[in-house]
Amino acid sequence: MPILPASDEAVLRAAEMLRSGGVVAFPTETVYGLGANAFNAAAVARVFEIKRRPSFDPLIVHVADDAMLDRVAQPVSDAARPLMKRFWPGPLTLVLRRRSQVPLLVTAGLETVAVRMPSHPVALALLRRCGFPLAAPSANAFGGLSPTRAEHVNTALDERVDLVLDGGATPLGIESTILALEPELALLRPGALPVEAIEAVVGAVRRDVRDEERPRSPGTLPQHYAPRTPLRVVLEPVPKRARRRAGYLGLTAAPDGYAAVRLLSRSGDLEEAAVCFFGALHELDALGLERIDVQALPERGLGLAMMDRLRRAEGHDAVGSK
Ligand code: TXA
Ligand code: MG
Repeated sequence: MPILPASDEAVLRAAEMLRSGGVVAFPTETVYGLGANAFNAAAVARVFEIKRRPSFDPLIVHVADDAMLDRVAQPVSDAARPLMKRFWPGPLTLVLRRRSQVPLLVTAGLETVAVRMPSHPVALALLRRCGFPLAAPSANAFGGLSPTRAEHVNTALDERVDLVLDGGATPLGIESTILALEPELALLRPGALPVEAIEAVVGAVRRDVRDEERPRSPGTLPQHYAPRTPLRVVLEPVPKRARRRAGYLGLTAAPDGYAAVRLLSRSGDLEEAAVCFFGALHELDALGLERIDVQALPERGLGLAMMDRLRRAEGHDAVGSK
């Protein structure tokens, strides 16, 4: 299965594959997605199979415009409208009420459907070419690190995808923020859109949703987003001896003595850090290290999303859930 640079021609070919039930990986502004026609249950089943994803974990449906949105979700509530206006297309996923045309496999049996309108030009071009919405989880094997480059997709999925559209490194680097609207505004997954930006539009959002309270968000399972190498967030420096065969992921600086170091942002900028976050973890994971030590990041802005992924990689609960 080829990786093709995302030219107009390749996008056309990808759309044809998707129309006939294929599975195509494509770039979005957050991470690469593994897409299938959201109305084709057999194609969607292949996505679950390729990812080895349990069928109780619902997918996000991607739309290009309001007309496509209307085909997957019931008319949206008053709370949703200003958010869509302000943040779509972009890295915000909203949990809406499902239309019956959306197969229950997509929503894992739920009457809600998670929807977003991506802003990446390749994702939008593909959706427009298709003319149908794409159900697409992140294009990694279940529980693994999310792909921010086309090469990550192939390694993670053992080359079982029909086609990978290569649009280069994804500009934001971390998954979308997932927001529930009912019965109250609640942050289900911190992500590339800081919750502070959402609150500036709609007021307070509940941030402390516990994992047990989310029947439906196992992307929020404790063990998730994990590299193969054991990882831990370190709150104080580890003894020099213990650094020799370990890697270090830091924000601006690293203690000396580590076998490999990746720094996320010279200036300590959390947005810049998020862009290379998964890429740096993929790199460290490939080095055969004993362990990856990660510096604790400030839990504001995009730091909240990164710490959420790190805690899950460690096997703990989500940010705000304790
Ligand atoms: O940025 C992103 O969101 C990327 C790109 C490809 O769009 N997609 C992504 O999908 O991260 P995935 O499958 O890795 O995560 C989707 C999350 C899962 O945790 C799932 O449980 C949650 O969305 N989800 C899907 N449908 C839901 C629903 N109806 N209610 C609550 N959570 C839902
Ligand atoms: Mg995922």
